[in-house]
Amino acid sequence: MSDSPPNPDDLTPEQAAGEHARLAAEIAEHNRLYYQEDAPGVSDAEYDAQLRRLQDIEAKFPDLITPDSPTQKVGAPLSSGFTKIRHTVPMLSLGNAFSDDDVTDFVARIRRFLNPPEDEPVVLVAEPKIDGLSVSLRYENQSFVRGATRGDGNEGEDITANLRTIADIPATLPDDAPDIVEVRGEVYMPKSAFNALNERQEAAGDKVFANPRNAAAGSLRQLDTSITASRTLRMFAYAWGEMSEEPAGTHWWFLERLREWGFRVNSLMEHCEDVEEALAAYRNIAEVRPTLDYDIDGVVYKVNRLSWQTRLGFVSRAPRWAIAHKFPAEQATTILRDIDIQVGRTGALTPVARLEPVTVGGVVVSNATLHNEDEIARKDVRIGDTVVIQRAGDVIPQVVEPVLDKRPKDAKPYKFPKRCPVCGSEAVRPEDEVARRCTGGLICAAQAVERLKHFVSRNAFDIEGLGAKHIVAFWEDGLVKEPADIFKLDQAVIAEREGWGEQSAQNLIDAIAERENIPLDRFIFALGVRQVGQATARLLAYTYGTLEAWRAAMAAAQKPDSDAYSELVNIDGIGPSVAADVLAFVHEKHNQKVLKDLAAVLDVAPFEKPASDSPVAGKTIVFTGTLEQMTRPEAKARAEALGAKVSGSVSKKTDLVVAGPGSGSKGKKAEELGIETINEGAWLKLIGG
Ligand code: IVH
Repeated sequence: MSDSPPNPDDLTPEQAAGEHARLAAEIAEHNRLYYQEDAPGVSDAEYDAQLRRLQDIEAKFPDLITPDSPTQKVGAPLSSGFTKIRHTVPMLSLGNAFSDDDVTDFVARIRRFLNPPEDEPVVLVAEPKIDGLSVSLRYENQSFVRGATRGDGNEGEDITANLRTIADIPATLPDDAPDIVEVRGEVYMPKSAFNALNERQEAAGDKVFANPRNAAAGSLRQLDTSITASRTLRMFAYAWGEMSEEPAGTHWWFLERLREWGFRVNSLMEHCEDVEEALAAYRNIAEVRPTLDYDIDGVVYKVNRLSWQTRLGFVSRAPRWAIAHKFPAEQATTILRDIDIQVGRTGALTPVARLEPVTVGGVVVSNATLHNEDEIARKDVRIGDTVVIQRAGDVIPQVVEPVLDKRPKDAKPYKFPKRCPVCGSEAVRPEDEVARRCTGGLICAAQAVERLKHFVSRNAFDIEGLGAKHIVAFWEDGLVKEPADIFKLDQAVIAEREGWGEQSAQNLIDAIAERENIPLDRFIFALGVRQVGQATARLLAYTYGTLEAWRAAMAAAQKPDSDAYSELVNIDGIGPSVAADVLAFVHEKHNQKVLKDLAAVLDVAPFEKPASDSPVAGKTIVFTGTLEQMTRPEAKARAEALGAKVSGSVSKKTDLVVAGPGSGSKGKKAEELGIETINEGAWLKLIGG
């Protein structure tokens, strides 16, 4: 583990100011990633540690507290795309406790604050802390009228339409419910639904989500409600905002009313007479955690008596009457049996830890990532070591560190191979990269198979009935060694193979024949050139038009002082690094043969230049903020394919701004200049889906 930072007491004011500025900026960035991109950059534990450090520094150097310090705010600024809603009662956050002592201190603080009679217990309610997204639901005259995300705590986004698709959220309340009711709770995706969703996403070649929380966030903040409706989302209710009359005298009774009104309330909640009972509830909940179909990351304790809650009130971002007792990250120790090196399509060598199977938080783990060469060296992980494994919400477990006092005497520092473990070619590592790469190209079986898999994948040749599994089997039996071989497969040979018959073999041959005619951009993408994704392939196809023209230009561009080279690097969105990869690819002897053989069997269709009557032809467009339906390069290529010019900055020359969540300064500038701004949904409609 890393060294602990110096005590704030030992910092000079300059040091404190420096560290404060750095931490504040980092936390602000984490907030942005978490709240706006649904893609946390650090684990919760790291985040909490940074925020605590900032609080500690501010406690010692109060001058450093500014209104925009992350300690004074709940979340990140809002993203656009949804209408904003101001919360009549702010949606706040919770302070954290990491140990039993922190919980004892919490109750002691409450006693000091309220000073109740000595024999009067501070009754707490202990509730699982659901790891989802908090929402606020407003009911007027017993009807659900509006629902919002937390946003920055004061202002959230209107996601009413999406919330209406969630079965746990009642559309109406019983007649005896107050006229104005705001119920707060957590929307989450069950783990089982998350796994099924990711399987579907993967099969369809779509983005997979890192954890259920991100999947829930991504599903809830869809502009297209039918997508939300197609995802399984659930909700637990646990708090309230504005109420036209107080619903109960205690939190415990309020939970009962929530149930009567038709909300789901978590059944693990416990009524605790003192700290000991609260800590026992924490252990009970921790024990069943692995069996739950939803993620929880701690236990929330709330003062039961509502009049006490009111008296206790809030400190900056959190109530004094509640605290979150966090669980430690799910860890286990096991033995590192081996380190395997996997070789990817572009030759990158990735180390994978092979472990003695161990259960971590209810899931059996036998592989974990070691990331790359530097990570292994930094942690000094050795084969034979007992290692700490961690599963922190994410799907891929990680090796945290070796347990040094259990290290076998003969364990040697791991030497990362300098040659490809599959083909024996030299593996090199460019100075500015973390990955070491096999230089074997298509000589390397691993790269060859991975490239063939890529060749037939969904966005490339997409041959029906020819999946990755078949490619591996055909490759192993020598039927397909290079892409062009696919088009020479013999029906009779396939029909003889296990699992195939006359008809299925014929279907495959027909499906392959259907793809003999392929658009140029798909063809270029299918080659699997490093850094050439769909968007870049499209740019190349757009620029050069035909396969012949592209090949001729790439041959000419091998000379750095040629016009062909400058044309290539000057394509907006390509640049020297991508150009170098493209040129190296076409220069390589095996690849030249692959291209020649493919050209002989295929009919590569020239790129269809956009019809000039497209509504965006000739317009200058700026994309800003997060796009949800497509990547930025894809959006850009699409616009360009329709004859638009895509620019990176807003100016008087801009015709149209397409703004996703978090569009920030560009969005503002467009507003100042009075430039038409539309969201992603409207953009897709404009260009025809
Ligand atoms: S009470 C004013 N209860 O945790 C206190 N929050 O870190 C309002 N959360 O924003 C929150 N389970 O998203 C409360 N049983 C629970 C919770 C819970 C999860 C979330 C909620 C909140 C965050 C604070």
